[in-house]
Amino acid sequence: MRIIKIGGSALTDKKSGKNYVSEVAERVAMELKNGRYIIIHGVGYIGHKLAKEYNLHLGFQGNAWEWAHLRAKVSEITKEIILKLTEHGHPAVEISLPDVARADKGHITFLDARIVKEFLEKGFIPVLHGDGAIDTSLGLSVISGDTIATELAIKLKAEEIIYGTDVDGILDQDGRVISQISHQNIMNLKFWENGDFSGGMRNKIEEALRLKGTIIRIINLRKDGTLTKALQGENVGTVIEG
Ligand SMILES: Nc1ncnc2c1ncn2[C@@H]1O[C@H](COP(=O)(O)OP(=O)(O)OP(=O)(O)O)[C@@H](O)[C@H]1O
Ligand SMILES: [Mg+2]
Repeated sequence: MRIIKIGGSALTDKKSGKNYVSEVAERVAMELKNGRYIIIHGVGYIGHKLAKEYNLHLGFQGNAWEWAHLRAKVSEITKEIILKLTEHGHPAVEISLPDVARADKGHITFLDARIVKEFLEKGFIPVLHGDGAIDTSLGLSVISGDTIATELAIKLKAEEIIYGTDVDGILDQDGRVISQISHQNIMNLKFWENGDFSGGMRNKIEEALRLKGTIIRIINLRKDGTLTKALQGENVGTVIEG
């Protein structure tokens, strides 16, 4: 089983807000081959913008409408992805994270992966997204798509996580793609020590540290053919393994 994370960076331009959802969803739907997959999508520009505007990192503060509104906006992305997948013959179904998980201080403490597993076993492609979950300390907390990918990879023993983004892979200080990193060597990466390396990608690398045994690929989903090649085992970005 493979997990494909359709990153919010691929789906939207995080600076301008430009929307690539339809194009990226179509590309994934076209390039996906038969097989077992879980698809997780990020929330992109709209999600990050509203979460910030509504201060959702503070947890639940009686702001039910704000949480609901963000979720409604994210659902528009989910709907488009599922529609494109099904139109191309893929049996994609949404599974709602807050129905199967809870958190404490922003970390998942419980995730019932059995439901996901049973859908997988029946041949469905479960689709989840970065989402809000009931949190023991904070009331509600935002759980990122990357974290959901890691948790499901551990629980369901995924062979591989493919992170689709808007960059060609993990880039070094000179902007060149680092094509291969071993799990052991992650902490030795130069730019890591230098700290010239921001949020989103750092998070994926930190998640990778929890995933020895799972191959992690970071590819560019704004380009045609990268997913096809990655699914054939070709290294078209960065691969973290070993
Ligand atoms: N060394 C690096 N190599 C590659 N990308 C980097 C690096 N440092 C920072 N980045 C940034 O990390 C971004 C990817 O992380 P980001 O969280 O923005 O995307 P995402 O996970 O696809 O989106 P979302 O969180 O909405 O799902 C890239 O778009 C790039 O701008
Ligand atoms: Mg991210």
